[in-house]
Amino acid sequence: MEFARKVLCIGAGYVGGPTMAVIASKCPEVKVVVADINAKRIADWQTDNLPIYEPGLEAVVKTAIGRNLFFTTDVASAIAEADIIFVSVNTPTKTFGIGAGKASDLQYWEKTARQIRECSHSDKIVVEKSTLPVRTAEAMERILNANAEHVHFDVLSNPEFLAEGTAIQDLLNPDRVLIGGPETARGRAAVEEVVSLYAHWVPRERILTTNVWSSELSKLTANAFLAQRISSINSIAALCEETGANVEEVAHAIGMDKRIGPKFLHASIGFGGSCFQKDILNLVYLCEHFGLPEVAAYWEQVVSMNAHQRTRFVSNMISKMFNTIVGKRIALFGFAFKADTGDTRETPALYVARELIEERAHVVVTDPKALDNARRDLADLPQDLITYESDPYKAAESAHAVAIMTEWKLYKELDYSRIYASMEKPAFLFDGRNILDVDALYDIGFSVYPIGRPGKSRL
Ligand code: UDX
Ligand code: ADP
Repeated sequence: MEFARKVLCIGAGYVGGPTMAVIASKCPEVKVVVADINAKRIADWQTDNLPIYEPGLEAVVKTAIGRNLFFTTDVASAIAEADIIFVSVNTPTKTFGIGAGKASDLQYWEKTARQIRECSHSDKIVVEKSTLPVRTAEAMERILNANAEHVHFDVLSNPEFLAEGTAIQDLLNPDRVLIGGPETARGRAAVEEVVSLYAHWVPRERILTTNVWSSELSKLTANAFLAQRISSINSIAALCEETGANVEEVAHAIGMDKRIGPKFLHASIGFGGSCFQKDILNLVYLCEHFGLPEVAAYWEQVVSMNAHQRTRFVSNMISKMFNTIVGKRIALFGFAFKADTGDTRETPALYVARELIEERAHVVVTDPKALDNARRDLADLPQDLITYESDPYKAAESAHAVAIMTEWKLYKELDYSRIYASMEKPAFLFDGRNILDVDALYDIGFSVYPIGRPGKSRL
């Protein structure tokens, strides 16, 4: 079949996979190819066992796969035939050298840019999908346009705002789509090409076009603001625990102010995920680089508060459990960084598990979707102190404490009387997500400690 346009996405991960599946399902006349160097990932995308768990994803993939959605490891050929190339490779925080711990590691991204240059024999639009430091598009344009064949590349920024667990809904019905491009005639034409893809299903007034730098910076800023709200409410949660105020009531009261709004005000054990911390640290690094240390320090505090929240949670567990957890069995309910995903990148549960094991507790990890990732994340720790268990009831057997790490709906619906009966006494329940009914659990016999609201102790 002849396709009107050929789109390629390099990187078949959490962003590239779902985004391209939706573009393919909504634009049947466009050929969409997703390419990755990871052969297993590419193979898995073509089975019923997709490499990532995302509600609704399988159905969307099924509508388009083999029709106009294709997966391949042959990145070079895919580049050669594409008109528009989305780059969605990973850009983790650097772990070495200058900027270690803050700056983005751009090695995968740069390799991709060079490969695009080598394999292109016709003009192309290259779109940054991965979150990148401001002015990366400019660098990419320089690398790409330094080619012997006089092939021209227009580099655009089209950051992805989807959240995991709701990726398909977010893609189908986005608050906005943002496309940044050079303010030249060529640049504007390239932007219009990408706009026309999204316009298949997104109303035009929700498709924003800006210059490249605004687009790049908007992504970092959106994530920094969202994370800041969570750190802000978590800081108030700490104060609530000291004063007897209830953070849920405070969040509700302030959230009714239209200027503040109710979302992203759930106190928790802290935010996780691949974006928030990485993007804020990236912002901090940029501010330092541009000589703005006060601005850098302001944003860095959002990350420090998040780390403090996790440590505070573990300290509270230890102090409530008579100041020692050596040899105690502690069941962690949930390992994913939030519900409805198997993703464990930067999950607070990982930090909690590590701190508990450092205190020589025996940690039992249970999660409906993230056990394989948990096994990998905890592989460097003494395995005699860790048990992986898919059944939460079994995970809680003989445990001294249960700690809720992820707000999976299933954990709200468990039979806690049964769990209580099988545990060591006194039985402790630490609710790191504020999803359980404190009074009901107390009545069963637990000592219950939520976040930022009064707990109930039987001791
Ligand atoms: C985030 C942004 O929401 C998304 O727009 C961007 O594209 C990528 O980063 P994601 O990391 O998938 O998405 O999840 P999100 O729903 O934002 O949650 C991030 C973390 O914050 C989770 O650990 C979640 O449990 C936590 N959280 C969220 C809270 O602790 N309290 C809240 O009120 C909201
Ligand atoms: P994100 O959450 O941003 O989507 P992921 O780590 O889930 O990040 O996905 C990034 C994908 O990019 C991975 O599957 C990785 O194998 C792929 N990738 C990295 N470098 C290259 C490259 N040079 N060519 C093709 N794919 C790449």
